[in-house]
Amino acid sequence: MSLQKQNILLLGAGGRECTLAWKLQSSPLCGQLYIAPGNAGTSAYGTNLSLSVKDFDGIRKACIDLNIDIILPGPEDPLVAGIYDFVKNDPALQHIIVAGPSANGAQLEGSKAFSKKFMERQNIPTAAYREFTADNYAEGEAYITNHPTPVVIKADGLAAGKGVVIAATTEEALDAYRAMIQDRQFGDAGSRVVIEQFLDGIELSVFAFTDGTNYVLLPAAKDYKRIGEGDKGLNTGGMGAISPVPFADDSFMQKVIDRIVNPTVNGLRTEGIIYNGFIFFGLIKVGNDPWVIEYNCRMGDPETEVVMPRLQNDLVELILHMANGTLGTVQVQHSPLKAATVMMVSGGYPGDYARGKVMTGMDKVQGSTLFHAGTTMAGNDVVTSGGRVIAITSLGDTLADALAQSYANAAHIQYDGAYYRRDIGWEFLS
Ligand code: AMP
Ligand code: GLY
Repeated sequence: MSLQKQNILLLGAGGRECTLAWKLQSSPLCGQLYIAPGNAGTSAYGTNLSLSVKDFDGIRKACIDLNIDIILPGPEDPLVAGIYDFVKNDPALQHIIVAGPSANGAQLEGSKAFSKKFMERQNIPTAAYREFTADNYAEGEAYITNHPTPVVIKADGLAAGKGVVIAATTEEALDAYRAMIQDRQFGDAGSRVVIEQFLDGIELSVFAFTDGTNYVLLPAAKDYKRIGEGDKGLNTGGMGAISPVPFADDSFMQKVIDRIVNPTVNGLRTEGIIYNGFIFFGLIKVGNDPWVIEYNCRMGDPETEVVMPRLQNDLVELILHMANGTLGTVQVQHSPLKAATVMMVSGGYPGDYARGKVMTGMDKVQGSTLFHAGTTMAGNDVVTSGGRVIAITSLGDTLADALAQSYANAAHIQYDGAYYRRDIGWEFLS
């Protein structure tokens, strides 16, 4: 395995990418680190490039000009759009390691119908489902009408986290179905619709990092998706996260490995689907059993903000093992400390919100790590530039300690309209 310093191009601009930049930069194997496009936080760990994650021609030029050795795509978009295949099919780029799956592999996230069929073939526990398009529209209506409620209606393709409706009534389900297929609410992403059984349980996120044959399991995490305290209100990109997950004990994780992770990695290999990099298993614990809600072909956000601080292995070394197919020789080390992250957001998010609000107080933060999400520089000021603004991550001997530390620091950070949930981890604190 090459132990030379690696020049790395990290794609993305959120809290996940700021955390990955922090983690990569801590490695003695990290050479020059570039983040495209990055944010006000990532520039502390590398050089931001003003390039969008789907500008493959711009990425190609940057890779050649900057002598890039590794590309790490943060979000799903460039993966689903085929960044892996783009690099591997270009003689000027094909020596570059891409720490992410082929476009075909990324379909695990890019198409719900693809992932459901894959799970069915591999006998991986997931909610019962059927898929419909305009061609068998009436059959879909009949299926919904006969389905017990609640019932889950999902747009097949990427819909920026908005393509899933948990319908409490048949009426609501039929409306969502019509909006997706007939009114084309999500465009092509909703021209195929998956209708599935509602699973009642508690969700968690499990992460593997694979070379296509072997894998290491990263720390598991739980994110908090709703905007309001007590898990009320609209869905967001994620308002906070904790790791480890208190209910994911050894016996539960053994079921996850035996029934879900092993069959997924083996299934990808035996079906000839090229898959390197992160697999995110969105799971739900029903009774004592794990089921798959969804796959993602990348790390989670804000899960990354608690997973990476607890991962003691060198991430660049893991990526080099991935490229060599030697992840099976790696002993993964998780910190025994507990991690919590609290996401500060813009007032109004996940609806309309203002940008450009000047942020102060970051210099007063002690004992936590700040991972910028939606921030940018305006002259000498750090200003808000997104809905999710900044994540405050802390480690502690107990979850309560980690949360208390993040909340103490949240009080220092000020900008007009700042909001955060004060109950992250609430169900695990007695
Ligand atoms: P997805 O985009 O597939 O992750 O779905 C978004 C969210 O909808 C998930 O995180 C779950 O909270 C919920 N969800 C999706 N599918 C189901 C299901 N079959 N049963 C219960 N909840 C679900
Ligand atoms: N936190 C969930 C996700 O990244 O999709």
